[in-house]
Amino acid sequence: SEVRPGALRWRSPSNIALVKYWGKHGKQLPRNPSISFTLEGAATDTTLDYAVRTQAGEGVDVQLYLDGERNEGFTVRTRQFLESLLPIYPFLKQLSLTIHTSNTFPHSAGIASSASGMSALALCLVSLEETLFAPFKDREQYWAKASYLARLGSGSACRSVYGGAAVWGTLAGLPGSSDEYAVPVRDGLHATFQDYHDDILLISRSEKSVSSRAGHGLMEGNPYATARYAQATRRTDEMLTVLRQGNVERFGELLESEALTLHALMMSSHPPYLLIRPNTLSAIERIHQFRAETRLPLYFTLDAGPNLHLLYPHAMAAEAKTFIREQLLAFCEDQRYLADRVGKGPEAL
Ligand code: PMV
Repeated sequence: SEVRPGALRWRSPSNIALVKYWGKHGKQLPRNPSISFTLEGAATDTTLDYAVRTQAGEGVDVQLYLDGERNEGFTVRTRQFLESLLPIYPFLKQLSLTIHTSNTFPHSAGIASSASGMSALALCLVSLEETLFAPFKDREQYWAKASYLARLGSGSACRSVYGGAAVWGTLAGLPGSSDEYAVPVRDGLHATFQDYHDDILLISRSEKSVSSRAGHGLMEGNPYATARYAQATRRTDEMLTVLRQGNVERFGELLESEALTLHALMMSSHPPYLLIRPNTLSAIERIHQFRAETRLPLYFTLDAGPNLHLLYPHAMAAEAKTFIREQLLAFCEDQRYLADRVGKGPEAL
């Protein structure tokens, strides 16, 4: 039947891994399970405009605009991604697509937008599938399909389609969990964690010297890989228990060990590399001092880069903000940080 031109619009947040995904195989499948908090403020807004393609051509017809400006690099990557989806979505060849995307966080902040960006695009695609064919009868299937497509775009993006917390990877103790897509941690978050804070210290915004893709690849030759994958499986399991019970001290212990283990894996790769900066370490020392002095449960984590995420309960927000302002901003480029929280997940706009 006739397809009228239309548009689909989603806002998807980013996420921060509590137990890290590091190492993959096959078509973007994880070597170990991981678990994350979905954020609230750091998000990508994406509009997917579609119309019937009038001129037949090779591949997928797509143009990508970032903040209103045509972006050649992202257009090429998005076209490749959509072409890789043709076995699942052959109809993409029959359409002309225009994607407008923008991030709610500053462009220059050195914050990766691949998780929120791929999640927003995946949600637009599943909504397009529903528009062209039929609505999913089971909403869980809708989210699982979006998570699956997001994973094919960027592994960690598959955890961004749910609010609260999400698990990606098969865990024996978690029915329904899968390596193919993430599942939500429904009813599994103690009240303390439902409005947890995540303040992101912008230590440096220089381009990282080794991409995540290359980093995952180096895990194949890492001598500690097998032990690491087993550890991450145990820790994802334990983190689920900790999140349900509200144990903020054990949460923090696991969180910081995960951050340091991730970077230790980089340092023990061949060739070895370092993504943390001197200011990352100075800030970590201050955080440890702060905890020793105040006994307050403020802990850090890291992504594959130098920026620190500070996680803490809402009840200590005033003390945390003062500590950041007085002692940590000095280690940040431009004295800046992003205040974020655990969020409720993507929204159709
Ligand atoms: O999704 P990728 O391929 O960019 O990998 C990201 C991996 C970490 O952010 C370091 C950890 C994680 O689980 O998000």
